Amino acid sequence: MAAIGTDIQYAKALLEQGDVVAIPTETVYGLAGNALNVAAVARIFDVKNRPQFDPLIVHVPDLNTAENYIQNIPAAARQLADYFWPGPLTLLLEKKDIIPDLVTSGLSTVGIRCPDHPLTRQLLKELPFPLAAPSANPFGYVSPTTPQHVNEQLGDKLQYILDGGACRVGIESTIIGFENDIPTVYRMGGLSLEQIEHITGPVQVQAHSSSNPKAPGQLKSHYAPGKKVIIGVIEELLQQYPAHTSGLLTFHNDFNSPFQYILSPSGNLDEAAQNLFTALRAFDKMPIDYILAELVPETGLGRAINDRLRRAAAE
Ligand code: TXA
Ligand code: MG
Repeated sequence: MAAIGTDIQYAKALLEQGDVVAIPTETVYGLAGNALNVAAVARIFDVKNRPQFDPLIVHVPDLNTAENYIQNIPAAARQLADYFWPGPLTLLLEKKDIIPDLVTSGLSTVGIRCPDHPLTRQLLKELPFPLAAPSANPFGYVSPTTPQHVNEQLGDKLQYILDGGACRVGIESTIIGFENDIPTVYRMGGLSLEQIEHITGPVQVQAHSSSNPKAPGQLKSHYAPGKKVIIGVIEELLQQYPAHTSGLLTFHNDFNSPFQYILSPSGNLDEAAQNLFTALRAFDKMPIDYILAELVPETGLGRAINDRLRRAAAE
């Protein structure tokens, strides 16, 4: 098992010698390494068992620092970074040569973001290099939102998990790219479409295509937990699936089942997002075969929640 603690200097020392360290962000925990060190980046892919065609996000303390690694920044991207960094927003921008091709899987753009977590921002400010960090889960599994989630799955491959507590947002960053300066959302995430469009006006959404290796974050089964997820109206699903081997994942309804997880008893989508991955992990430990899940309202973070549920349900 990895050690869990709040020692930024220890995390820094490990990263400086090319090791990987799990770090907290406001969205999910990341598996971080020196983005400019190819061996460290290779180790990230290795620990996650992630195919090298799936590019990594690079984390920086601020937009100023980001400009060391990206170029030809569209006005709309600058505007979004000004408004939402630090925060759950990743921008796909033209990379400078200093970013190794392994980080971007050979693409000319790099996903870059400034995470909003005090420990990790402090770490990023002290480090002389940016951190490449995918979510700290084995490839294909749900993202971790606590240090314990990380330790359960990657603990034997890691020395240290920087403990920032439970993630405030709980769902990965929203990813936005630009074509002719027009923003396109490629992954729904912790920054809602409403918040984005309030700043930019209407944007395109291209999230959730199933088999485009150029955008592997869009692989449908990417968030699959260990049990079979079936989406529908719970009352109807309960007529098709046996109640004693089915877990119920609801937004706010209470079915009085021993195997249920209510995402937000008060019906709050932000709270539901915070709890989603913990819920999916909890079902994995229950003696059930199915997770019967209802979708949440398609507004605010509800879009990202439904996206993750649909992917978890896809085979
Ligand atoms: O909230 C987050 O974004 C978390 C925290 C740790 O920052 N990170 C995260 O990383 O979710 P990851 O690797 O699990 O998901 C990043 C997704 C990948 O699916 C990848 O395909 C996509 O972003 N991506 C990264 N760089 C890209 C690029 N240049 N073009 C297209 N997609 C890219
Ligand atoms: Mg991931």
